[in-house]
Amino acid sequence: MTMNAAKRDCIWRPFTQMLNAEPPLMVRSGNGVFLELEDGKKIVDCISSWWVNLHGHARKEIADAIAEQANKLEQVIFAGFTHEPAEKLAERLLTHLPSNLKHVFYSDNGSTAVEVALKLAFQYWLNNGKKKNKFIAFEGGYHGDTAGSMSIGQGSPFWNTFEPLLFSIELAPFPSTFDNDSFVQEKESRSLNRLKEILDKDGDNIAAICIEPLIQGAGGMRFCRPQFLKDLRALCNQHEVLLIFDEVMTGFGRTGDWFAACRADVQPDLICISKGITGGFLPLSVTACSSTIFDAFLSTDHSKTFFHGHSYTANPLACAAAIASMDLLESDPTVFSAMEARHKTFMNKHIKDHPRLIQQRVCGTIFAAEIQSKEEDSYFNSVAPILKKRFIEKGFLIRPLGNTVYLMPPYCIDDDILEAAYKVIAKCCASI
Ligand SMILES: Cc1ncc(COP(=O)(O)O)c(C=O)c1O
Repeated sequence: MTMNAAKRDCIWRPFTQMLNAEPPLMVRSGNGVFLELEDGKKIVDCISSWWVNLHGHARKEIADAIAEQANKLEQVIFAGFTHEPAEKLAERLLTHLPSNLKHVFYSDNGSTAVEVALKLAFQYWLNNGKKKNKFIAFEGGYHGDTAGSMSIGQGSPFWNTFEPLLFSIELAPFPSTFDNDSFVQEKESRSLNRLKEILDKDGDNIAAICIEPLIQGAGGMRFCRPQFLKDLRALCNQHEVLLIFDEVMTGFGRTGDWFAACRADVQPDLICISKGITGGFLPLSVTACSSTIFDAFLSTDHSKTFFHGHSYTANPLACAAAIASMDLLESDPTVFSAMEARHKTFMNKHIKDHPRLIQQRVCGTIFAAEIQSKEEDSYFNSVAPILKKRFIEKGFLIRPLGNTVYLMPPYCIDDDILEAAYKVIAKCCASI
């Protein structure tokens, strides 16, 4: 083992088999869509560094906002105290979230935003004198790596190991669709029928249905239609079940509108947001809820309090970064709203008739397609590591999810670089 490898092995990396992992690439700096490596090589970040970066790397406005805040107040306990960035950010977020959502609860990452939503949903019913301790989630869903978020992420490839530790849920099929899908109606009916069946039988015990609206991310960039979310909302109303939108990945323009809920015109009872919230600078998340939920916790009875919090809840630096990111998004929302058309132009030019890429789809700032391979569709499909390596060699950070290849770049990517990414995908996938 070389010195460097030994040194790097002291860090146990996420989602990584350390026995045979390639040494990680050392990144020296970032600028716009580019990451610059130790040896000076530049790589285009086509996945926004795990879907968090919105405006490009090292965006000055956000860096400056963090520096300014750091010189004023870096952190303060968020129980009994508050600060301007947290207050301001809450107000700003609520102007863009669905209008029924009136309160925000801060935490640190996507998993905890979901964890908070699950606990709020459960306790909401409890505070109303009802014991509803079950959830419905969707096949292929991924909601994070804490115990609660894993419990509702049964479709995740990482779920099996931890099954004995997790609570049981009801699972419904996700009506995954793509351009020119002639079976979409059938898939939606199958899913809705299964949901009706569960709700008719067990609705009194179901606290909430949780879904990644419009796009399941880690499950393979699987899309569903807005109408399905509308039908889901109607079912929840009918059966007195809360609806949770996990917009950890889809938030802040990713689906072409501020939130998937806005694009689908559906009001969830709870929404979880994180990732893009700070433009990719600092960890922060929010679970927003309706007044109906908030009001159910107002009581002189201690047991009705929401006893949940984190040391870094509403960190001022993260809130300042988030405000600066919102400023940028508000100053030009076309950076995300116009990207769907740009993706479609290049997809039609370079991928449409590709012999190996099927189920092509675009939603907002995201393009995805399945690579036809002899193996089954799976996160562990062997084409993923081979392609990942080829893409990197060609200067592109494109990280297939199994045999799903996708692009989710920062919004500042220009047409030339975006087109180059499509060309690289077309070329590398042709010979796999
Ligand atoms: C939809 C969704 N929910 C939750 C999470 C978990 O977020 P985090 O990795 O910040 O805990 C993710 C992460 O990819 C996600 O895509």
